[in-house]
Amino acid sequence: MALGTRTEEKKPSRTDRQPSVIRLFWRSTVGKKAVMAVSGLIMLGYLVAHMMGNLKIFFGADEFNAYGHWLRTMGEPVLHYSWALWLVRVVLLLAVVGHGVAAYQLSRRDIAARPDKYVHRKRRPSYATRTMRWGGIILALFIVWHLLDLTTLTVNENARPGHPYENVVATFSTWYGNVVYIVAMLAVGLHIRHGFWSAAQTLGMGNATRDRVLKTAADGLALLLTAGFLSVPVAVMTGVVS
Ligand code: HEM
Repeated sequence: MALGTRTEEKKPSRTDRQPSVIRLFWRSTVGKKAVMAVSGLIMLGYLVAHMMGNLKIFFGADEFNAYGHWLRTMGEPVLHYSWALWLVRVVLLLAVVGHGVAAYQLSRRDIAARPDKYVHRKRRPSYATRTMRWGGIILALFIVWHLLDLTTLTVNENARPGHPYENVVATFSTWYGNVVYIVAMLAVGLHIRHGFWSAAQTLGMGNATRDRVLKTAADGLALLLTAGFLSVPVAVMTGVVS
């Protein structure tokens, strides 16, 4: 090597570099399952709060509409009008996307790992897998419908901005509104029942003695949420709320 010359050092290319811990975590099956469990628990927390908020409809229009208004003013004066709501929306969106992408990738991985891949006889996914897959798809479609119905009011013919009580009553005054919500609420219940149980397993909370308690907790939570959500359309249909 001649004096005064520097050897050319090759910069490591993107592919030569060690993948980051986050990337390694996301690539692993256990990492994807953890993402599903944590995002699922975030959405579950939101659903519990949302269901309890919905029950305010039984205390009259003023209380329910005031609650709708509070959703936009929460966090003030530290935060600007509706910033906290937008924060919740961003977290929920990340949770929904993370949950869906991880679920899809795990199911692809599961199919690829089957030993009878080249045998023509197809193995049917288990009942739980099929319920979770279809339940997830129904819920994703429901969320789009629900936002168009009660947030943007696009598909809610008789809706008025700033009047959530009247808008909910308008939704459940149509047969298709009731059908869409009742199917979705049953899907929510089934999804939570199995999902809560799976999340507990992934996060390592299950052991032989705690399994029964966890299963009962999953059943109770699913039942409570489904009944709480369903009480609103039932109340409108029976005239308790009008
Ligand atoms: C009978 C059942 C339900 C009723 C009556 C109901 C009612 C409402 C209402 C009135 C709003 C609008 C709040 C506002 O902007 O003032 C809303 C928003 C929302 N609901 Fe529901 N909901 C129900 C079930 C569900 C379920 C099962 C989910 C999730 C799977 C869900 C997810 C959401 C989301 C993500 C928003 C948007 C919040 C926002 O960003 O403004 N809801 N709901």
